[in-house]
Amino acid sequence: MSKHIPVMPERAIELLDVKDGGIYVDGTLGRGGHSKLILDRLGNGKLYCFDLDEEAIDECKQNLKDHENVVYIHDNFMNMNKYICHVDGILLDLGVSSPQFDEAERGFSYRYDGPLDMRMNREDELSAYQVINEYPQEELARILWQYGEERNARRIAAEIVENRPIDTTMQLVDVIKSALPAKVLSKKGHPAKQTFQAIRIEVNHELDSLKSFLSRFDEILNVNGKLVIITFHSLEDKLVKHCFKALSTVNDDKRIALRPEEIEKARYILLNHGDKADEEEIEANRRAKSAIIRGVKKVYDKER
Ligand SMILES: C[S@@+](CC[C@H](N)C(=O)[O-])C[C@H]1O[C@@H](n2cnc3c(N)ncnc32)[C@H](O)[C@@H]1O
Repeated sequence: MSKHIPVMPERAIELLDVKDGGIYVDGTLGRGGHSKLILDRLGNGKLYCFDLDEEAIDECKQNLKDHENVVYIHDNFMNMNKYICHVDGILLDLGVSSPQFDEAERGFSYRYDGPLDMRMNREDELSAYQVINEYPQEELARILWQYGEERNARRIAAEIVENRPIDTTMQLVDVIKSALPAKVLSKKGHPAKQTFQAIRIEVNHELDSLKSFLSRFDEILNVNGKLVIITFHSLEDKLVKHCFKALSTVNDDKRIALRPEEIEKARYILLNHGDKADEEEIEANRRAKSAIIRGVKKVYDKER
């Protein structure tokens, strides 16, 4: 099985600023790379780990078996408020792990032949098969355009509908290729990349989960607590960037008209403005290429 190399591990830990004895959450456990680094600094604190993928949790129970202060939760990170309150730090490293991509039978990859699955949580009902074979053409085109930023969304959606039923990832790749003009096919990068990204986001409700989490995490984060998020495409990064900006600037649009004492202080401060991996890391781990890491720190509670 392929390994997962954690992205920007030092920067993530630096931004999270793990304190001995604290309560932390890894919302996207994966293969536990970031969790291990948190645990190494945690002393007798506690780490709560979430993942939609039961395989990830089972493997980490092995990988991290020397640590007793870990709680594993097989659920969406958007539900973390149901399980915990008063935490000192939360890390999200979004998207799919290398083992998920590299196992053909999970159906995430346009490089290996497998069933059209793409579910992070195998207990979910919706799979890529249903999206590809049952969604109306217009809906498919919208998904490819919105979640994949695919310029040829309409052509690809029409070709998919024309070629139903489509059973496997490689059949889907062929259908996508046959929908694209030669000019697009000759470009660098895999022609199915954006379509696969879009379908995966739809199957796993990835943007809805992130939005829901961003609207609720404040309830459980302690003052001086930090939230650090690693994103891998512009749709995710836009959501995180706008949320962090809104949290760290209050009544900004009216600021010029206000007296200094009227300016409400923001309850959060930005820890950075979005860092990227350096060349050396990208060379060693291609997944790091599109990654952006952002962090915020809570400085006041709601009722000041
Ligand atoms: C990029 S990997 C994380 C890798 C991890 N940081 C490591 O170092 O091994 C993302 C993981 O988060 C999980 N995941 C993605 N979205 C999730 C969500 N909304 N709730 C819970 N887990 C999620 C995926 O199943 C995957 O295992």
